[in-house]
Amino acid sequence: MGLFRKKTVTPEPSVLPQHVGIIMDGNGRWAKKRGLPRKAGHAAGAQTFRTIAKYCEKRGIACLTVYAFSTENWRRPADEVTAIMNLLRDYLKESLSDFKQENIRVRFIGDRTPLADDLQRLMQEAEESTAHKTGMQLNIAVNYGGREEILHSVRRLAKRVADGELSPDALREEDIGGGLYTADQPELDLILRPSGEYRLSNFLLWQSAYAEYVFMDVLWPDFKPHDLDRALEEYAGRHRRFGGV
Ligand code: IPE
Ligand code: IPE
Ligand code: MG
Repeated sequence: MGLFRKKTVTPEPSVLPQHVGIIMDGNGRWAKKRGLPRKAGHAAGAQTFRTIAKYCEKRGIACLTVYAFSTENWRRPADEVTAIMNLLRDYLKESLSDFKQENIRVRFIGDRTPLADDLQRLMQEAEESTAHKTGMQLNIAVNYGGREEILHSVRRLAKRVADGELSPDALREEDIGGGLYTADQPELDLILRPSGEYRLSNFLLWQSAYAEYVFMDVLWPDFKPHDLDRALEEYAGRHRRFGGV
């Protein structure tokens, strides 16, 4: 027991990632394994999200971005999309009171215009009612796509160029980065993808340039605080060079 304890490395604050991104994947396979409909997997995944978001705040993560629904997820059957939107609605309604106890500031990233009006209203309410919080920043990516996000930023710059406010030659990387949904937030340090897939699937493309990746075999509904600890330990042992030596 004593030996086991010694082997478990708890990351020091200096090696704790400031900004963690999680691709919450594997809900469908989790349900299939149990002979359940896919939406049961999403419901289980939504519970995991609640637990892990609170755990990240407890661990002292400054910023957490979770991928909940991609710009490509509209390709799924309509009843699955509806089930996911309903889960988001339930979460928002519940959390409007629950958030009061949490020191978490919420922001939705992605293009919310195609979402139902009541959902858009709830999202705005959640953002407004948590704007003054001083704890963890939680970004929930809904109808989010990394390419769409970059396009959105570039389009705004193109308008300024067209209006003669900005010269194309004066454009800097920071101008593109500055127009992203996460512009005012810490750099992305760690991307976590459970479920055994090894891809980004259009998540935080710009922000992930120098992020560390941790892929895990566990399906998202089975993901436990202990799995987050494992990922943080793995991150703590990485040597980030940013192109230097
Ligand atoms: C992730 O789980 C949730 C969303 C994409 C909304 P999946 O539904 O992609 O689960 P798998 O990958 O099919 O197992
Ligand atoms: C990425 O997962 C999107 C979310 C987790 C919300 P997908 O399941 O949609 O990704 P692919 O299709 O396996 O690349
Ligand atoms: Mg998937």
